Parts: sequence; C-alpha cells; structure tokens
Amino acid sequence: MSIRFYRVNDAYGEFSNFAPFPIEIDGKSWPTSEHYFQAQKFPGTPHEEAVRLAKSPDAAARMGRNRNLPLRPDWESVKDDVMRKAVMAKFTQHLNLKSQLIATGDAELIEATTSDYYWGCGEQGSGKNMLGHILMSVRTELRGAEAPLARAPTTIEVVEGDITKLQVDAIVNAANSSLLGGGGVDGAIHRAAGRELLEECRTLNGCKTGQAKVTKGYKLKARLVIHTVGPRWKNGHSGEPELLASCYRNSLELALKHDVRSIAFPAISTGVYGYPLRPALDVAVETITAFLNTHAVEMRVVLSTFDAVATLNAHEALRAHQERQS
Ligand code: APR
Repeated sequence: MSIRFYRVNDAYGEFSNFAPFPIEIDGKSWPTSEHYFQAQKFPGTPHEEAVRLAKSPDAAARMGRNRNLPLRPDWESVKDDVMRKAVMAKFTQHLNLKSQLIATGDAELIEATTSDYYWGCGEQGSGKNMLGHILMSVRTELRGAEAPLARAPTTIEVVEGDITKLQVDAIVNAANSSLLGGGGVDGAIHRAAGRELLEECRTLNGCKTGQAKVTKGYKLKARLVIHTVGPRWKNGHSGEPELLASCYRNSLELALKHDVRSIAFPAISTGVYGYPLRPALDVAVETITAFLNTHAVEMRVVLSTFDAVATLNAHEALRAHQERQS
C-alpha cells in the first residue's frame, strides 16, 4: 500500500514541508520545516534570517532557490541530513503529526510531484522520492518505542545480471578497505554511479573487513550504495566465514537504518578474494535469513549473480537452507 501526498490541503497534506507546523531548532523558531530547510543553504549569513522571516513557505522556497544568493559549497552532501533534521523536529514536536505518521504503518510514503525528481517521485515514479524515504525513516525511528511489529514476510530471490541495473533501494558493493574503487563489481558500481560516488567515498576514511558504510547512489537506479569489505579466502579456518557473515549483517543493519525496503547483494568475496562460491552463498543465505527473522520488517533481498554457475549455486544454497528448516 502507498500513500501519496503533495498539496497542503489534500489528504496527508500535513506531510508536506509547506504545511503550517512551526518547529524549534537550534534555539530558533521556524514557521515551517520548509523555512528551516531553505535557510540552511545560507548558514551564518543575513540570508538565513531573511529566509526564516519569509512570509510563507513559498516565499522561503523562492529565496532558497535564488541562485544569486551564496549557496553553501557542501549543500549537495548535507541536504539529506538537513531535511531529516527538519522532518524529525516536525514529527516529534507535533504529537498529532507523530501519531498520524505512525498510523501509516508500513505504507510507502510518496511525495507525488512530477516536477521534482529528487525529493518527489517525478514522472512515472522515476524520481528518488527522498522526502518520502526520509519520512519513512523517521517513522521507523519514532515507532522504535512502540510495540514491535508482527513478523513481516521476507523474500530472498536470485537475479542473474548486472547489479548496477537493478531497481532496488540499495545495492551492496564488494569493495576493498580503501573504498576508492577497484575491479569486479566495485568497478562496475563506480562506473555506473559516476564520479560523485568516489568523491563521497573519499570522505569515509576507508572500511575494515566485515564492516559496511553507506553512500548515495548518484547515477544508479538505487538511491544508496552500501560498501562492505569481504574477507580474502585463505583456508576457511582463519575467520573467513565469520567475517563474511559480518558483511551481510552489517550491510542489513545499515539498510534498516536508512529505511531500505529492497536490497541487492553480489556474491561478496567470491571473485578476486577467492572465496569458494557455494560456501560463500551458504553463509549469505544463512546470515540474511537469520537477520530478517529477528527483525520485524518487510524487505526484498536479491542475490545478484553474474553468471549461470553463480545462479545455480545460489538456488542450491537457498534450497539447502529450506530443507534444513523443514
Ligand atoms: N553485477 C553483479 N555481480 C558482479 C558484477 C556485476 N556487475 N561484477 C562482478 N560480479 C560478481 C563476481 O562474478 C563475483 O561473483 O561479484 C562477485 C564478487 O567478485 P569481486 O567483484 O571480484 O569482489 P570480491 O571477490 O569481493 O573482491 C573484492 O575486488 O574489485 C575488487 O575493489 C575490489 O579489491 C576489491 C576486491
């Protein structure tokens, strides 16, 4: 089920940043979350206060979009966090809104505007709907204290082909500890996402084996890339299975934090790092299933295989797991 919102006076108009719900942030009062969001383009300048005092959210938005004003240089990398801070303030400071948001359950929330491909859904739903995703992420966080949800169905499917082409919320990258790109799926993801991905990776200060870090998806269909570093195969008794399991577990933890509903994993470590295919896929299936069975969320998980042998082994790993369960 999905809930579409846009105009303030239409159903769920309260979810719009233009809705008249004042918020307090950083010791100041902001007439709407739109006022706060737009003003953060000019922090510490007179324009910030001018936007805060704008007579309406439309006026605040016009000022924020005025390219003659000095936009902060890091705006592209901070705008999601700014938006999340505004939305979190709005839905925690207005308890009726918090209840309304939580009451949407697991519905997908969509900002239904064809003119905005980043915050909204764009034409035919081809936009990123980032405002919708932030609302769902805030809903998950606010619902955290509520009673745990009934166990939701989860599915793991095998899809052969290029992971960069998949229409999922997040794709996982089998990276190396530098996070600065490489060959294999790492190279494919960086090529498809574009140079901005490397620029953001440069700010992450690398990643340890078994750990995971998240970036935006940029030119990918996926809105996020979760980078994880698999173990190099030695002999199977040097902690490789445990480290590989950590890759899947930590990637899924990050996915939950970012309200990911669908995620695709490559067969981590089975290329350059030499992990035998079937044992690696057995670890993948066991870890993913165990994680999803202990977290009450509905998530579509794709095992992205790059050739027929990997596809066959993935199906066999799933079948063996199901047989062990029965
Ligand atoms: N889509 C899906 N799967 C892919 C793709 C792709 N476009 N390209 C490769 N794969 C598959 C491979 O067939 C293999 O099964 O991804 C799996 C992982 O292989 P690698 O990419 O070699 O990753 P890994 O074995 O974890 O080695 C990581 O390789 O690319 C470098 O920078 C990376 O140093 C790191 C190391």
